[in-house]
Amino acid sequence: MPLKLCPCPAVNLLLRDWPQHKTDNPISELEPILLFDRTDAISADDRKWLTNESEAVQNTNNPIRQIVESMRVKSHEDYSFIPLTIGDPSVYGNFDPSPIAVEAVKEVLDNNKDNGYGPAEGLPEARKAISEYLEPLLSYKPDVNNIILASGASGALEFSITCIAERGDNILVPRPGFPQYSDWAVDIESLENMIDEKTRAVVFNNPSNPTGAVFKQDHMELLVELCEKYKIPIIADEVYAGMTFNKARFISFCQIAKSIPVIHVSSISKRFMVPGWRIGWCVVHDPIDIFKGRLTTGIKKLTTRLVGPNKLIQAAIPKILSIPLSWHNEQNAKLEEAANDFYNGIMHAPGLIPITPSGAMYMMVKIDFSQLKNFSDDMNFCKALVSEKSVFVLPGSCFGSTDFFRVVLTITKDKITEACQRIVDFCKENVKTANDSANL
Ligand SMILES: Cc1ncc(COP(=O)(O)O)c(C=O)c1O
Repeated sequence: MPLKLCPCPAVNLLLRDWPQHKTDNPISELEPILLFDRTDAISADDRKWLTNESEAVQNTNNPIRQIVESMRVKSHEDYSFIPLTIGDPSVYGNFDPSPIAVEAVKEVLDNNKDNGYGPAEGLPEARKAISEYLEPLLSYKPDVNNIILASGASGALEFSITCIAERGDNILVPRPGFPQYSDWAVDIESLENMIDEKTRAVVFNNPSNPTGAVFKQDHMELLVELCEKYKIPIIADEVYAGMTFNKARFISFCQIAKSIPVIHVSSISKRFMVPGWRIGWCVVHDPIDIFKGRLTTGIKKLTTRLVGPNKLIQAAIPKILSIPLSWHNEQNAKLEEAANDFYNGIMHAPGLIPITPSGAMYMMVKIDFSQLKNFSDDMNFCKALVSEKSVFVLPGSCFGSTDFFRVVLTITKDKITEACQRIVDFCKENVKTANDSANL
């Protein structure tokens, strides 16, 4: 039977009851759900190609990509290029995934059983394994029904935001925060001033990219209190959960929030060193059921648009998550060592103040422009560092902090030593002398 076509609002699904039940011929399952009587059909001659950018495209921009693109400068031919910008632990060859994870994926492939679609919200075995994995991190075992898989933490954030906010609403995202030289905290007063009637959620990222800070319990309690006062749910981006060092302890917002909704968002990307495997999740934590289950059902509904993330990796999740804590501790010890190497290496560079991280995989370095000549902001500092020393660091502008740059900690020890030496030389060559100051 020929299929009838029908106009369908671009975001509505055309199909019903698919792919929950298996069929050899899914086409026979297609059932249009919207049928219109057309009164506005036009002749082919009146049609033109409609090629304008959609609103979604116009409204999408990635400031990091944009800023990095705008920094296209040639590196110095006398030096090998050292990029310290890439937040992907797999690219430097220093943080490989555990062999357990690699074997788990091979096994799934060999089994030849997970090549088809799965449930849109994720395989039950994977969600159960995530619930067990999260118990020590969240200090409770989330109900499997409240766990929804996504394509990485990015996909989980997209689900959470799309579920909560409408066009015209706002979601507050703190900038890196206020540096107190070993501590970055959210400026609670400025956060409170930003809340208006259109605020639908606040995103807190802990442990933090880019600062490497790990929130302390008393600070988190104040944040939760503020959200409770204004009745605002928290989207807790905890993608670096468990990646702490320097004696810091990760505490989840789920643990602190006793009477407000939190959506915990995370993935295997960072802690398991496999960002390309694209598995993440949302955990809806609504301890007094303020949303009456609507967050969970809403996010599950959204998952039906994409029918779940990569099924092969989903099937491997129970084994991947069984990697022993000792492996994670080893990775954290390596991150701590890298943080110390960077700190000690940069400490003596004139005009730079490294800020010790205690989590995630980054370190922020403050630039004291009063001690350096030729630079007025992070962008021209970072560009000159590439063109003079072939070391590429990420300008703080990417995160709204113009007197910082960020380095990644996942690079090899020899490259850290080399990069720090070049950064120190660069700052010494650009330090202001008494003469420069007198000439001002
Ligand atoms: C704070 C933060 N949230 C989310 C993500 C996205 O993680 P995923 O690769 O799992 O989508 C990143 C990636 O760098 C991140 O730094």
